[in-house]
Amino acid sequence: MTDRYAVVGNPIAHSKSPEIHAAFARQTGQDIDYAGLLAPPDGFRATVESFRDAGGKGVNVTVPFKLEAFDLADDVSQRAKDAQAANFLRFDQGRIHADNTDGVGLTRDIVRNLGLGLAGKRVLLIGAGGAAQGVLTPLLEYEPRILTIANRTVEKALRLAETFRHKPVAAASVLSGLSFGELAGHHFDVVINATSTSLHGELPPLPADAFAAGALAYDMMYAAKPTPFLAFAAARGAKTSDGLGMLVEQAAESFLLWRGVRPETAPVIAMLRNP
Ligand code: ATR
Repeated sequence: MTDRYAVVGNPIAHSKSPEIHAAFARQTGQDIDYAGLLAPPDGFRATVESFRDAGGKGVNVTVPFKLEAFDLADDVSQRAKDAQAANFLRFDQGRIHADNTDGVGLTRDIVRNLGLGLAGKRVLLIGAGGAAQGVLTPLLEYEPRILTIANRTVEKALRLAETFRHKPVAAASVLSGLSFGELAGHHFDVVINATSTSLHGELPPLPADAFAAGALAYDMMYAAKPTPFLAFAAARGAKTSDGLGMLVEQAAESFLLWRGVRPETAPVIAMLRNP
């Protein structure tokens, strides 16, 4: 029997996850089927439960359901608790286990695929919504020297910094929340865009000198052409990366959790870049 999985979201038609998991299944010889599943805005729970009741083994969860997925679970991993959101559910003997693989997807892409260290670095995380919260613990696990959260609504950046400052994982880092205006004069080795600006073709109001020499600008979104954030960073001499590698890495971590096998990500990233 082929084991069935899906990604649940709204919208879902654009999702690359079915293609990614099909490639992982071919590569590892695992007999799985992975589909895109559209849930109505008020129908996430019903969609997940009917997929499970029809024999589904697990789902990935994307916008806008990651908080609902977290609430739906019977057991929640520590990293999903830190994120207060889940992008991964596994169905097991009537119970739903939740995890969050987004953050490790980001850090694996930066550290392994792009070959850049995070330890001892000055890291700027732009945004203080769910996407930013989801990657904070995995970033802190690499012990950056400085982790600054900048947000348009500064109160949210301050709150997030305050929540994480007392966690053991933050012990090696100076964690703070700032407004964009307060970034003047600060320079960073890694600048990560976790705002929704790229979805709307907007540019977050970053000072031009935010990028230290040799800095990496990383956009958690992926798009066919460079986002305004990546274009802004490239024009100031930064190395740039979109979030395609993060997407493939979070999928690989999910595949590992479901199937016990870690797929190779490099050939899948290459396939998506050069279809
Ligand atoms: P997500 O779950 O994707 O993080 P969200 O919780 O709605 O979505 O958060 C969106 C983030 O993008 C927020 O940090 C938001 O800033 P505010 O908290 O001030 O709203 C940020 N954002 C959206 N549009 C922005 C813009 N034009 N400039 C700067 N930040 C923006």
